[in-house]
Amino acid sequence: MRSVTVTLSAVVLFVGLAVSGIGTPVAEAQQASLAQTPPMGWNSWNKFGCDIDEQLIRDIADAMVSTGMRDAGYIYLNIDDCWMASERDAQGRLQVNSERFPGGMKALADYVHSKGLKIGIYSSAGTMTCQRLPASLDHEQQDAKSFAAWGIDYLKYDNCYNQGRDAVERYSTMKQALAATGRPIVFSICEWGSNRPWLWAPDIGNLWRTTGDIRDNWDRMMYILDQQVGLAQYARPGAWNDPDMLEVGNGGMTTTEYRTHFSMWCILAAPLLAGNDLRAMSNETKSILENKEVIAIDQDPAGIQGHKFRDDGDQEVWVKSLANGDKAVALLNRGMTRAFMAVEAIDIGLPKADRYQVRDLWQHRDHTSGGRIDAGVAPHGVALYRVHPMSD
Ligand code: GAL
Repeated sequence: MRSVTVTLSAVVLFVGLAVSGIGTPVAEAQQASLAQTPPMGWNSWNKFGCDIDEQLIRDIADAMVSTGMRDAGYIYLNIDDCWMASERDAQGRLQVNSERFPGGMKALADYVHSKGLKIGIYSSAGTMTCQRLPASLDHEQQDAKSFAAWGIDYLKYDNCYNQGRDAVERYSTMKQALAATGRPIVFSICEWGSNRPWLWAPDIGNLWRTTGDIRDNWDRMMYILDQQVGLAQYARPGAWNDPDMLEVGNGGMTTTEYRTHFSMWCILAAPLLAGNDLRAMSNETKSILENKEVIAIDQDPAGIQGHKFRDDGDQEVWVKSLANGDKAVALLNRGMTRAFMAVEAIDIGLPKADRYQVRDLWQHRDHTSGGRIDAGVAPHGVALYRVHPMSD
């Protein structure tokens, strides 16, 4: 299957634009080859809601470059709900809200692209978006063509006002419409986990939300983490469980809690979509979002989602297998007091070895262990390690 995909992609490259929009199987193969690691970027919703405009998006594009976010891997700049006008035009096409986006979407996409970034947009598989603006149900082909013509690289596709119609059919129709444009567009399915999307979405989209919305507080973030148990088997390169976007830096959690949020999302091989105001990011927030060693756990090329290995009530051990045979280990303390936690390397599936190199991904320090991986973990904190069996 993989070699078929590669061959088809090569044909696309060779024939170039001559067949774009016509060869649907080719375009589908293109979509499947997207998001080989979980998508990374920024999305407007968590911080700004409907309070978005062209200047904000340009400023965020600039900030993604100047803060180092782009170079850390955050490539997609995604505009969520509320970019569209309240009416379609005379030809039935979606239009941008021209007060908020006077230069239009194409010019904005060109600007974002000029910064070495990609641009994402939002619609709903319903008659209206969740904010009651026009959406794409029964307009899939026309809207996908508009998105492609504007230069859009990523579509988040929501579930509001879906008229009770079948989800698989609604999301498949948009998948086909995107493929027919010939433009590679990451397809993000946002039906809140309502129809067990992990069972069907891997063949339709590149990522699918598994729950309702995250909120910027510890309890909700932990609730969402709990909903991910049992879903690891459905993730693979090109197709990811999406536990929703990041709240890191939005103010509702402590730095320790945000470090835990980010660590656990990386263990989950989650899409990493920052949702904070990048124009005014503290150094603490930046050091979380741009921790390259933690990002590498999320972006590991094997694309194996981590799972909960042990649950002792407030103390949990999560493990993610990595492409080179290492394991990422998170010792998570959900309790209100400091906890001493430990796990043995062979118990989590590492080969027997005399010594293991244990890299602390937040302290950026190595130590050697005979097999025990342990830490005193702060309340609501996490110790995150990359463990490597040493052969000599
Ligand atoms: C929700 C979705 C959120 C956000 C919001 C916009 O359905 O889960 O992530 O996109 O709609 O109205």
